Amino acid sequence: MSIDNTEKDVILIVDDTLSNLQMLFDFLEDAGFKVLVAEDGESAIEMAQYAPPDLILLDVFMPKMDGFETCHRLKTNQTTQDIPVIFLTASSEKVDKVKGLKLGAVDYITKPLEHEEVLARVNIHLHLRNLTKRLIQQNQRLEVEISERKQAEQKIREQAALLDITTDAILVQNLDNQIQFWNLGAEHLYGWKIQEALGKNANELLYRQETLSQLANIQISLVEKSSWQGELHQITKEGKAIIVASRWTLMRDEDGQPKSILIVNTDITEKKLLEAQFLRVQRLESIGTLASGIAHDLNNALTPMLLCVQLLEKKLLDQQSQEWLSILKTNIKRGANLIKQVLSFARGVEGDRTTVQVNKIISEIEHITKQTFPKAIEIRTHATTQNLWAIYANATQLHQVLMNLCVNARDAMPYGGIIEISAKNFWIDTHYARMNIEAKMGPYVVITVSDTGVGIRREIIDQVFEPFFTTKEVGKGTGLGLSTVIGIVRSYGGFIKVYSEVEKGTKFKVYLPAMLTTEVDSFQREHHELPIVGHGEFILVVDDEDFICEMTKSLLENYGYNVLVAKDGTEAIALYEQHQEKIHVVIIDMMMPSMDGSTTVRVLKTINPEVKIIGVSGLVLTSKMVKIFGNSVKTFLPKPYTSDELLKKLQFVLSSK
Ligand SMILES: Nc1ncnc2c1ncn2[C@@H]1O[C@H](COP(=O)(O)OP(=O)(O)OP(=O)(O)O)[C@@H](O)[C@H]1O
Ligand SMILES: [Mg+2]
Repeated sequence: MSIDNTEKDVILIVDDTLSNLQMLFDFLEDAGFKVLVAEDGESAIEMAQYAPPDLILLDVFMPKMDGFETCHRLKTNQTTQDIPVIFLTASSEKVDKVKGLKLGAVDYITKPLEHEEVLARVNIHLHLRNLTKRLIQQNQRLEVEISERKQAEQKIREQAALLDITTDAILVQNLDNQIQFWNLGAEHLYGWKIQEALGKNANELLYRQETLSQLANIQISLVEKSSWQGELHQITKEGKAIIVASRWTLMRDEDGQPKSILIVNTDITEKKLLEAQFLRVQRLESIGTLASGIAHDLNNALTPMLLCVQLLEKKLLDQQSQEWLSILKTNIKRGANLIKQVLSFARGVEGDRTTVQVNKIISEIEHITKQTFPKAIEIRTHATTQNLWAIYANATQLHQVLMNLCVNARDAMPYGGIIEISAKNFWIDTHYARMNIEAKMGPYVVITVSDTGVGIRREIIDQVFEPFFTTKEVGKGTGLGLSTVIGIVRSYGGFIKVYSEVEKGTKFKVYLPAMLTTEVDSFQREHHELPIVGHGEFILVVDDEDFICEMTKSLLENYGYNVLVAKDGTEAIALYEQHQEKIHVVIIDMMMPSMDGSTTVRVLKTINPEVKIIGVSGLVLTSKMVKIFGNSVKTFLPKPYTSDELLKKLQFVLSSK
């Protein structure tokens, strides 16, 4: 039997009989082993510890320490316990073989020693020992591999969790546009579950037919630069149109061949809408300038026409001509009226202004609408403040404003519903004014007209104030109602806000500057005499707009709070983890790029289920949003808000359990 070791195997012989030792030594060395000898158990153990041999041949009967004791010691020592021990006994000696085997010996050889037998047994046990060694090594290697794999799996799991925590939609598609990876963000954004999305064609799932041509350009860029970045119009499972900021990266295999495409999409629909709202003011202004130019020229054309008609009326006295002239006159006047409306939008309105009590106007409107609107429409009015401030306006124009709003509300409820008209005092402070370009610091009266009608779709809400914008059938609406309203309101230095939810209803809030009177003065004093101060509580403010962060920080600090600010969800979470113990309330903008408010709220909740949160939103909070966040967010604050509103909300949340 050969041993496949290049190095010689080492055998230690332990025997007190020198002649035995000598004979075995010669024979084993001849057989190709390296041989060590020991004359007693004590020195054998020492040697074995110092340089462990591959095998020990151990005489049972020795003076001082016998073979059994030596074997026992070898087997209880960590360095030597794995060395195979073969006992040597004379056949005449009566030995308890079982005892030896129990102690850990692997074999017995009886003296006088047959060389062939010794060699055979030694080789077998060395072979076994080598096999065992190799097995142990393999085992150790396997254990290392398993632990490495476990670590890798853990890492993958962590990365997958990271991929799922971001609100960005992350997907991978192959070169045939088949979806191969779809994260939780993609599920949320598009509404398609992972099982539904995998294997589908991304172009069919996410795009309208019209936008597909844009994708061809992306392919070219991918080929040339391996990446692409830009905005894309997509659709969700429900068919909702969304806009995403999209980053495409071409992935290659080991040979550098294109393999798949990694796409990261951030939803920027809300942001785009907000931008559009911002642009609305400017657009209305330029439309106004344009319209007023045209209206002016048209007026100049209509005036002589009307004059001529009046002259002809005197000249052509036959009945037929008189009838035609009358039709002509009516239509010229209609045209002139339209022009007047356009001009009132463009330039604002003149007309005598006096002190007007809004409550009085509201009750007049209530009277007219109750008489003329269908019975299926219920009219409710209430002034929330008894001492409503007076405004400086023209009563007829204010009538027109409220009437136009009420008529629109009526038209939005063909099957009936409720119209509510209310008014209240409202103090706009610097805080609010800086968040809303149209508002100035000071007292306002807010008139609200709300209905339970069809609502206004988001796509058109920015257009409703434009002259001639109408969704009504030809002949039913001119689209001048709201543009007249805004013309009048702006001429008073006021502004309007619209909140609408499709199928739920619409709310127009008209903000009109109130007159500065002693009443208003005392209100302001009272208001500021009752600051709601904090007691050093820590507040975490999360908003992506720097100036809002700074403004809120200085406000809250002035009122005795300590403030930490974060510019996005990730920073907020990091700060919260670090200062969890001392942060009392988190004020968070629900609409931020990268990680939005709702995701941040979710993560904060996992860190601390009791966390107190105030959700701030620039958009109208829909009933759906409130439902989603209802449990986790203590209260909502619509932007823009006044310092007072913020401080009150904060007090409310701080005092709530
Ligand atoms: N309360 C409302 N509910 C739903 N949609 C509304 C409401 N108010 C206005 N709108 C929408 O805004 C559009 C413009 O309104 P606006 O009053 O300017 O014009 P109009 O009502 O269509 O016509 P006009 O008032 O000149 O007869 C309307 O066509 C409608 O689509
Ligand atoms: Mg109208």
